[in-house]
Amino acid sequence: MTPVGDGGPAVRRLAEWDAERLLAVADEYDTPTYVIDLDRVAANCARLSAAFPAADVSYAVKAHTGRAVLRRVREAGLGAECASAGEVERALAAGFPGDRIRYTAVNPPGRDLDRVVERWRDDPGLTITVGAADTVDRLRDRGFDGRLCVRANPGVGAGHHEKVRTGANAKFGIPIERVADLAASWNGEFDLVGVHAHAGSGISGEDLSAHRELVSRMGDLAREIESEIGPLEFVDVGGGFGVPYREDDPSLDLGSVAAATREALGEVSASLSVEPGRYVVADAGVLLTRVNTVKQARDATVVGVDAGMTTLLRPAMYDAYHAIRNLSADANAEPEAEADARETRPVTVAGPICESADVLAEQRPLPRPERGELLAVGNAGAYGYEMSSTYNSRPRPAEVARSGTTVRLARQRETIPDITELER
Ligand code: LLP
Repeated sequence: MTPVGDGGPAVRRLAEWDAERLLAVADEYDTPTYVIDLDRVAANCARLSAAFPAADVSYAVKAHTGRAVLRRVREAGLGAECASAGEVERALAAGFPGDRIRYTAVNPPGRDLDRVVERWRDDPGLTITVGAADTVDRLRDRGFDGRLCVRANPGVGAGHHEKVRTGANAKFGIPIERVADLAASWNGEFDLVGVHAHAGSGISGEDLSAHRELVSRMGDLAREIESEIGPLEFVDVGGGFGVPYREDDPSLDLGSVAAATREALGEVSASLSVEPGRYVVADAGVLLTRVNTVKQARDATVVGVDAGMTTLLRPAMYDAYHAIRNLSADANAEPEAEADARETRPVTVAGPICESADVLAEQRPLPRPERGELLAVGNAGAYGYEMSSTYNSRPRPAEVARSGTTVRLARQRETIPDITELER
């Protein structure tokens, strides 16, 4: 079991997962299957809490909403940042008390507001973060007068891909220069507790200056509100802490991110809040997939596997790199005998979906995979299962949770009848 005192090592690489144990999981539960290591989730939470000792750390549950994950995160003492009524429901079901839940409303459908306000009546500790002035009107219409946080659009974004840079995207938040006046107009009618901003997702060491700029603008905003309106409880500077997807990427130095954040925020009476998602779960998960076909195409060796863009969307959507291992070759390789040492060659790993985007990796050097062998895809714990779909009428995968020496089914594999069940 990973020590959780200081959170253990800063990163867990795909190479460190035990091939024999993963092969046993695939034998028992079939493929494609996600494996999530709850001890690593707890360790990642501990590392975040240690790096931000005086801050309030919430988990952006959108990265992985499985109940076992949510429970472990709650036990580790983090709060829950939720992007929809569904996520609020799941956080409550996993035992997060209302006062540890923040609902970040993004163009919220009326149904979401109805549901969240209903939950707030039972649990008035719940905080609602608004990113548009008319969301406040819609909350008022529903009788909400509770804990309100205002999301600013700070005009500075960062992240691993253009599609996940939110900080300067008009869709998110209220232009920062208008926030103080609006907050003043809402103060009194609501319990104005905080301000919020999020630069984007997958911030690397190189993006630190954008993060620092965002935090500094939020510090200025908080000071303006505190001097003109009164003290705030928190300044939430979002999540987005990156993880190393490539085998040789350095891990993010959380200590320096925390120090830069503190320094950029400056003196405020409000406490600092952060809400990472990916960092908590990414390296706690792998995806197991089996080789169905191997063929020599004109320019490539194509290894067809049973997981694709419906299982793990990130490569198709963001050109994301995920490490891949041939577990069968690794398990058979005897370092001394080299009996099963395979030639390593670049292969294209493609899924079973009828789309050319359905490729998990292109020209990736792997010990030559053979039909029936098992591959593992690394860093699949964040935005993996969560973004899966049933496109091509392909049932979603199973998920297995590991804790200590226990391995159990966390989510059953979907079936074709599950897909058609709601048809009328
Ligand atoms: N807070 C807010 C308001 C967010 O919108 C997000 C992510 C987070 C926190 C957490 O960001 P994280 O720490 O996980 O980077 N599907 C994409 C990521 C989209 C993130 C959306 N918002 C991916 O797979 O890379």
